[in-house]
Amino acid sequence: MAQVSSKIVKGIINFVSRSKCSLVGGIIVIILFPILLISILLDMQGVVENPYFGFLIYMVMGPVFVVGLLMIIGGALFCGEKEDIGQLTFEYIEEELSRPGRFTRIRKLMLITSVTTFVTIIIVSILLYTGFHYTDTVSFCGQFCHTVMEPEYVTYKNSAHSQVSCVKCHIGASSEWFTKSKFSGARQLVAVTFDSYSRPIKTPITALRPERETCEGCHRPEIFHGDKLYIYDKFLPDEKNTHIQTVMVMKIGSGDISGREAHDIHWHISDNNQVEFVASEDHMDISEVTLIDKKNKDETVYRKKGAISGKSEGMHTNVMDCMDCHNRPTHVFLSAEDAMDQKIVNGVIPREIPYIKRQGLVAITKKYASQDVARRGIARELMDWYRTEYPEIVAQKEDLLKQAVIGVQQAYVENVFPSMNIDWNTYKSFASHREDKGCFRCHNDEFGSETGKKITQDCDACHIILVEDEPARDISDILRSSIIKEGE
Ligand code: HEC
Ligand code: HEC
Ligand code: HEC
Ligand code: HEC
Ligand code: HEC
Repeated sequence: MAQVSSKIVKGIINFVSRSKCSLVGGIIVIILFPILLISILLDMQGVVENPYFGFLIYMVMGPVFVVGLLMIIGGALFCGEKEDIGQLTFEYIEEELSRPGRFTRIRKLMLITSVTTFVTIIIVSILLYTGFHYTDTVSFCGQFCHTVMEPEYVTYKNSAHSQVSCVKCHIGASSEWFTKSKFSGARQLVAVTFDSYSRPIKTPITALRPERETCEGCHRPEIFHGDKLYIYDKFLPDEKNTHIQTVMVMKIGSGDISGREAHDIHWHISDNNQVEFVASEDHMDISEVTLIDKKNKDETVYRKKGAISGKSEGMHTNVMDCMDCHNRPTHVFLSAEDAMDQKIVNGVIPREIPYIKRQGLVAITKKYASQDVARRGIARELMDWYRTEYPEIVAQKEDLLKQAVIGVQQAYVENVFPSMNIDWNTYKSFASHREDKGCFRCHNDEFGSETGKKITQDCDACHIILVEDEPARDISDILRSSIIKEGE
């Protein structure tokens, strides 16, 4: 047994040392094999969390290892000494076969070649498979191209979808989408390498737009329905940072299911009501809306005042789906005001610090060259102001003030990314009507059908406001007083 294995080792050494090319390949393989093996095992166990680790294994060491293997085989077969190459000619093999003494050598050569080829094929397939898989991971998408994807990654991590992987949304179930986005992914890698991507990344990216079916894998708006209570906590820019609230019943509604009519907000996604619209590339400007009522085979075209009928240049027709309202389900970039309010209501920024809402806003809405500059700038701005205006706070509540400074810095770095030219309000959510965008792109007075029909602007069609910007109270108190108002 020992004899056989020593013969095999000898054979392999002979095989490898046939040419310089395969010798170099052999050295690469011998060095990389144990490192790769251990790294892949560690990666499979999830021991190392560094995003560059996967890249190193599958995109660098893996390919180099494969090149090493190919060099061994190629070198031995094609770059060897003249007489060695002769060994592989047909006449030679025939001659060898006819001489019984030499037969074993040929057999050995064939055995070694086939074993090496077999091992190579297995290793190459494993590396290809795992490498391909690696490009699917959140760490590859979100962290590898650090500057480019940082804004999307950070906002994603802070959202309700932080446990849903990037590809789950961005790569659809159908294979066409799969290949398409891989292709676009490769293009993106090139763009990152040559620094040719746009800052900020343009939206929507047609090739990466999630499919409606993707969302419906987890959410079925035609099944969930009914009204829901929404509470908006805000703070006034006064000394006490007065806590105020807007409370409303959001009419979430549903698509039609089991004989139930589609109604309220999710009426738009019912199979019976298809809403098509003609819009600019970024979907901000809408010139025409067509409602196709499939059940009654009826069609209503709402046209914007002054808009030419049909499509003009740069305008595209779209069928409305989830993303036309939920364009920010996970990459939620807040406004400066909302970012401050959220940090205060969560207690990250202590409310006891006088004027912290107002001064925090002043600090975070200044322009900074980078997040690091911003961190320092915000701290300096706030500390200077409190030192002059509230020296007693600096003296007695320094810890609390420092906590506030950190909270204000967080409000900034979670939403503003100067390296990608992302400022407050670069990306806007369509599921609202701030600055008359979102829902009001269609639900506004400008649109009318030929018979004079309008798209509803009735405040109560979408929500019933119970209180607006009133001092915060206990929620049961608010509900009880609304019921009494109704009864009057
Ligand atoms: C819950 C689904 C979902 C997940 C998970 C998700 N995205 Fe997105 N992503 C979207 C939607 C929706 C858009 C906006 C599409 C549009 O406007 O057409 C978007 C847009 C983007 C954009 C374009 C720029 C922008 O902000 O609009 C990038 C880049 C991006 N996502 C990267 C990522 C990365 C990286 C991850 C993982 C860390 C990820 N996405 C996870 C749904 C998702
Ligand atoms: C893999 C499952 C999954 C997929 C796919 C998914 N979501 Fe979600 N979604 C969730 C979970 C889990 C939550 C959190 C529920 C909670 O915390 O109450 C959520 C929450 C939400 C919310 C509530 C938002 C909030 O901030 O509370 C909305 C709106 C939403 N998803 C829309 C979408 C849209 C649009 C898509 C498609 C682009 C999508 N989701 C894809 C699982 C998913
Ligand atoms: C006409 C715009 C619009 C469309 C289209 C739309 N939604 Fe919504 N959706 C809303 C609004 C508005 C809310 C309530 C406010 C919020 O959570 O942003 C909401 C709420 C939700 C919620 C949270 C519900 C809850 O009970 O908390 C989920 C999940 C959701 N939508 C999923 C979807 C999915 C999936 C689709 C596509 C099949 C879709 N929506 C299509 C506007 C829309
Ligand atoms: C692309 C255009 C478009 C956008 C954007 C849009 N809607 Fe609509 N919506 C329509 C049309 C068209 C109708 C049908 C005409 C009508 O009922 O007034 C409609 C009807 C409605 C209705 C009445 C449904 C019923 O029960 O009959 C509600 C509620 C509604 N939309 C809420 C919203 C909300 C909330 C948003 C934003 C998150 C929104 N819409 C965004 C086009 C749009
Ligand atoms: C087409 C549907 C629709 C109509 C019509 C509509 N809203 Fe809204 N409104 C929404 C949605 C969706 C939100 C949730 C926005 C969010 O979560 O940021 C909202 C939020 C609000 C808020 C709370 C936002 C905040 O940050 O304080 C107020 C106040 C408000 N609406 C007032 C009105 C008034 C007043 C009208 C009538 C002139 C009106 N809305 C008409 C859909 C609508």
